[in-house]
Amino acid sequence: MSAKKNTNDLMDKLVSLCKRRGFIYPSSEIYGGLNSCWDYGPLGAELKRNLKNFWWDAMTNRRDDIEGLDAAILMHPQVWHTSGHVSEFNDPMVDCKTCKARFRADKLAESRCPLKPSKTPLECGGELTEARQFNLMFKTFMGPVEDDASTVFLRPETAQGIYVNFLNVKNSSRQKIPFGIAQIGKAFRNEITPGNFIFRTREFEQMEMQFFVHPPEDEKWFEYWREQRWGWYEELGIKTTKLRWHQHDDKELAHYAKTAYDIEYEFPFGWQELEGIHNRTDFDLKRHQEATGKDMGYRDEQFSEKFIPYIIETSAGCDRTLLTLLVDGYDEMEIKGEKRVFMRLSPKVAPIKVAVFPLVKKEGMPEFAENVYHELKKRFKTFYDISGAIGRRYARMDEAGCPYCVTVDGQTIKDETMTVRERDTMEQVRMKTPELIAFLDGKITGQV
Ligand code: GAP
Repeated sequence: MSAKKNTNDLMDKLVSLCKRRGFIYPSSEIYGGLNSCWDYGPLGAELKRNLKNFWWDAMTNRRDDIEGLDAAILMHPQVWHTSGHVSEFNDPMVDCKTCKARFRADKLAESRCPLKPSKTPLECGGELTEARQFNLMFKTFMGPVEDDASTVFLRPETAQGIYVNFLNVKNSSRQKIPFGIAQIGKAFRNEITPGNFIFRTREFEQMEMQFFVHPPEDEKWFEYWREQRWGWYEELGIKTTKLRWHQHDDKELAHYAKTAYDIEYEFPFGWQELEGIHNRTDFDLKRHQEATGKDMGYRDEQFSEKFIPYIIETSAGCDRTLLTLLVDGYDEMEIKGEKRVFMRLSPKVAPIKVAVFPLVKKEGMPEFAENVYHELKKRFKTFYDISGAIGRRYARMDEAGCPYCVTVDGQTIKDETMTVRERDTMEQVRMKTPELIAFLDGKITGQV
């Protein structure tokens, strides 16, 4: 079997598991779907929320030097002229003269010919036009009149919402440099070739942090944030053998960046960017100062001179990280001659933390199990399942990424201990409810 077929197999299996178990569905599916748009189902919504909380905790709650922000998606249109996005946020595009499809000129090897899907546009024999620049900004109109004056953009990055609020946050929080502002939110890009499930979409979520520093210290903080962000993926439980750094060369650098490193993950379709760490210098604040006349200069008793801070940016894709968790966690094993699927998600982000099963529907087991379920539910996302053979119940939870299953059996009725089965080791340990709560607490917070 070819490597390409294997790759597609894994992504196909993942897309189908996500639909079957309620992680992710095609958007507007009853209308035939909308290209590259996806909806998060019950498990997906929970996983995404946990992932965002995991980032938010690491970037704000656990630190004293980063403040949170939740800026509007629609911003003054001049912001995007000032930031350079209207003139420079372009991708090179080519057309196929044969099938009329359009492709990103720098991603031809990853694209598929619509007429011959097993081939790339470089292999299918179609003649391609010269590359031309295509601007990725989504536009819409504000108010009832549809003209140039009412044109606004859907933000292509959340970062600008932070820059235009730099003075507000500095003044209201009384933070001193170095400090950061973090934000999670939707961003929109009219990608020429979206694809690979939720990897590249036109609507997606970013988790971005902008760290404002004294310019002579930019390299020190750049290295600090590279280290911190790598550690975050480790803490999330991603296999580090599947992570690597990629430094941008001059051709790849975004118009605002002096230096940039990506954290890449080895997806079934190749090594791809998960997060960018950028030294944006004073590019953005300086341009906003020039455009608005607002003084972005910073001064306090630590420094002898006023300066415009440099910005070290950490910019992660939420949907991409979620896809990474799914790809990294997907596993198949044969158990007693049956192929079984496991979604090995870390307890820290798993959508369901624990499932409770009475072994049989009699002898007081359902009543005991229901009480335990209600007790656990006060603290953790808990699932109660009474239907089907116990093996099938375990299998459903393994596919849903649930790390722990608790079974109430005959022994429980005698001594109140239950079997706690760990998804990844398959080990079973007996515990009473208070011990179980402490055990789960530790696993979820990473304290044990
Ligand atoms: N503010 C800087 C910035 O936006 P970027 O490298 O263009 O930098 C940051 O994007 C991250 O946003 C990427 O590493 C990726 O995880 C995510 N991202 C970018 N475009 C995306 C898309 N079309 N679909 C899903 N995620 C995307």
